[in-house]
Amino acid sequence: MIKAQRGTKDILPESVLTWQYIEKTARELFQNANYKEIRTPIFEGTELFKRGVGDSTDIVNKEMYTFSVGGINKDENSITLRPENTAGVVRAYIEHGMNKVAAPVKLWYFGPMFRYERPQKGRQRQFHQIGVEMFGIDKPAADAEVIALASNFLSKMGLRELVAEINSLGCTECRNKYKEKIKEVLKPYLDKLCDDCKVRYEKNPLRMLDCKNEDCIKIFDNDEIKNVILSDFICDECKTHYEDVKKYLDILNIKYKENKMLVRGLDYYNRTVFEIKSDALGSQSAVAGGGRYDGLVEMLGGEKTPAVGFALGVERLYELVEKQEDNKLDYFVVSNLTDEAVKTVQYLRDKGYSADFDFQNRKFGKQFEKAGKTAKNAVIIGEDEINGGYYTVKNLITGEQKQIKEL
Ligand code: HAM
Repeated sequence: MIKAQRGTKDILPESVLTWQYIEKTARELFQNANYKEIRTPIFEGTELFKRGVGDSTDIVNKEMYTFSVGGINKDENSITLRPENTAGVVRAYIEHGMNKVAAPVKLWYFGPMFRYERPQKGRQRQFHQIGVEMFGIDKPAADAEVIALASNFLSKMGLRELVAEINSLGCTECRNKYKEKIKEVLKPYLDKLCDDCKVRYEKNPLRMLDCKNEDCIKIFDNDEIKNVILSDFICDECKTHYEDVKKYLDILNIKYKENKMLVRGLDYYNRTVFEIKSDALGSQSAVAGGGRYDGLVEMLGGEKTPAVGFALGVERLYELVEKQEDNKLDYFVVSNLTDEAVKTVQYLRDKGYSADFDFQNRKFGKQFEKAGKTAKNAVIIGEDEINGGYYTVKNLITGEQKQIKEL
């Protein structure tokens, strides 16, 4: 038997209702806040992610579905299934000259992403994200709006206890000084760090703080190193920005917790980063994550444009939300006269009702059984009804039955 690929899942009809509810709630909330939907392709040139997400990240180094296509000029056409959508949205923003529109440009998206990870609870190879990206505003109120949107969306989905963890990574300058400090203090422990951290030490030392290896975590817990991690390294301008983000979050009544270890797994961030986690999800606890990325548009060939956004994992959210029940049909037509059933079902559908029938011309009892499970009303059409020119309609909830001339 051919089965679905490891790390992928069919979303079956009984769960699709909850998915639709999640999408509908997101659409309404984001449209209310003036975000427009954007749909970009699910594959892009590999270079976009190498440059955009960053070649020191696990995503680019280990997790990309990359293909060579195009026959003779194979290497020129290396494409990758998108592991995330910020890079793709930035590419579209630049390609379509959206910088010419008055700022802010506010976009949102929903769609599948692909990462070649070891599948486990909350971690798939094809998963879905809902995200927003806001371009053109460097003010802290923009960071706060984006964090508030993520938080309000999760509250709307019934998850009121979740708290956003926030941190500021500073600007390139203050971060570079911080990176040097971290390297200095970790140098004596270099050969005790895991192989990944040895690479991170050279390529992107901040990423080490995100390491899940227990030995590394123990090293980072050492007082001397902790003092550096917890030190106030960001410059005055970045500090003011961060303080203002927190002020706006207070004004917006958004609960948050500061976490100096929060560095995120993608390279493009500066200043504000945030994650919203739920203990109920186990080890893959992040439901949403995002932050500011003021350098990415320019790095991908556009004009210097500040930006901030977040993405939320729909499979992880699905685990946490109350499931939606299937709506019952308005009518189920019970009849052994297939011609009449076909005609009546179409008539009801044309009038805007949901309606169906048995198709198999089974015994009345069987048809009633099906009607009882799937519909609010049964329309009965037998010889009596045809001869008398009426329909018998039974309310399947109250049991009330009546004869009517018109449906
Ligand atoms: P990310 O933290 O890599 O950020 O992913 C966002 C969310 O996607 C995670 O919090 C998680 O819920 C979900 N997710 C990630 N990987 C998987 C997986 N393998 N299986 C299931 N769910 C997963 C980004 O992707 C950034 N583009 C967010 C962003 C937008 N930053 C600024 N704008």
